[in-house]
Amino acid sequence: MKHVKAISEGSGLSILEQLQNRGIFLPADCGGNGTCGKCLIRFVKNPPEPTPKEKKFVSEKNLEQGWRLACETRLEGEFEIEFDQSEDEIVAQTEFQIRNGSDVPEEEPEDAGGEGTMIAVDIGTTTVAASLVDTAQNKVLDTRTCINHQRSFGADVISRIKASNEGDKEKLKSLIREDLAELTRRLGQDPETIRTVISGNTTMQHLLEGLSCETLGVAPYTPVDISLHEDGPFTLLPGISTYVGADIVSGIIACGMDQSDEVCILIDLGTNGEMAIGNKDRILVASTAAGPAFEGGNITCGVAGIPGAISSVEINDGTVTFETIGGKEPVGLCGTGVLEVMYELLKEELVDETGCMDEEYFDDGFPVSDAVVFTEKDVREVQLAKSAIRAGAETLIKEYGVDYGQVRALYLAGGFGQKINLKKAAGIGLLPEELLERTEAVGNSSLAGAVLYAKNPAARERFVRVSDKAEEVSLTGNPFFNDLYMEHMMFE
Ligand code: FES
Repeated sequence: MKHVKAISEGSGLSILEQLQNRGIFLPADCGGNGTCGKCLIRFVKNPPEPTPKEKKFVSEKNLEQGWRLACETRLEGEFEIEFDQSEDEIVAQTEFQIRNGSDVPEEEPEDAGGEGTMIAVDIGTTTVAASLVDTAQNKVLDTRTCINHQRSFGADVISRIKASNEGDKEKLKSLIREDLAELTRRLGQDPETIRTVISGNTTMQHLLEGLSCETLGVAPYTPVDISLHEDGPFTLLPGISTYVGADIVSGIIACGMDQSDEVCILIDLGTNGEMAIGNKDRILVASTAAGPAFEGGNITCGVAGIPGAISSVEINDGTVTFETIGGKEPVGLCGTGVLEVMYELLKEELVDETGCMDEEYFDDGFPVSDAVVFTEKDVREVQLAKSAIRAGAETLIKEYGVDYGQVRALYLAGGFGQKINLKKAAGIGLLPEELLERTEAVGNSSLAGAVLYAKNPAARERFVRVSDKAEEVSLTGNPFFNDLYMEHMMFE
């Protein structure tokens, strides 16, 4: 528990805003709108009267113990609070086997740039991952991850864009720069001097650079800069558009799609739901507003991949068994846990094909453990995310002019806390059953692309080529996508 004793800054600022001003991390999935219930703090003494929103999100027992929502509480004078900071212990899968197209020979280690060591980074909306790369020996020496501390301004890119546009641009920039510096120090390097290659979605790169996000949130959604460029010790990998960033370019290259004769699909299960289809001749990309459900965001008891996060679930005849990360006491559901509990509830017919929960659990949710529930609202979040991704992928397949039989592989990427269960992913309709045998969970392909660039600067041309040549398919207002989106809201 983090303990904070302070004098209120007054001027109507919420406790959440005051913690943000002091650089103190507290998860706030909805960005302070009072709609997620995640910014829980406990007043050690003199808790203020609970607001209606607090009565909605905080149990009576917890209200009595002094728990409140930081974004709802505004006070004058001294206050003393405590809160959980376990998200600081986030763990994320970082393994990734960099592929070349099956028809392309391995790149030779002597192609490496000989710069000694470099850091390769993926800035995800939820997690930041950094690898120390020995460029002479062409290998990864160590990898570290941390929560993206901008999460205290909201779980998705839209909340971060909003916060940046409303005056918090510098705070967001310094939070991510401090995360990078801390990871670099943990890798035993000096953040001021070591060259660092940065992959990540376009918004994350804007926030790192302190660029204006004014045009990111409004049509025609124009980014300021998505080219390959350098900023001090940073090399920023190129993106394609506002919502298809360097992370997907990195993933395309790490999966060898740009060198493959055959058509492959890449889906990144991040909040932007970025995806690509193609081969060495042509690549199409798209993004869908999938939301952060598969990263544990906007889920009632959702958490990042921290120790104690429920990562796999089985329900048999009403008996629930689960595993948590690190074998710790359950604290919530991470992305893979969300996916698995959804699958199990469908399998046990406790949720029907429309997404309606059995009436026994409709009001209070299904108890996965004493402290963790999965609610009707969470089912909706999963429906929205999975239908957006499935419909997006099928629209890309159609636009590309192929069918499932012509797709050699579907790569499923994402920085999950634990490996995703593909059978269960197909079972909830996130993936087509037809491609299950050819689907591979590839882990953090954005980080893998950054590592590949650090290992081998000769890959630079590939990044520029993919960034320039990939064609974006807009799904907004696309009638084919819209029809599929409605169709896939149902559980098959
Ligand atoms: Fe406070 Fe969401 S309810 S940040």
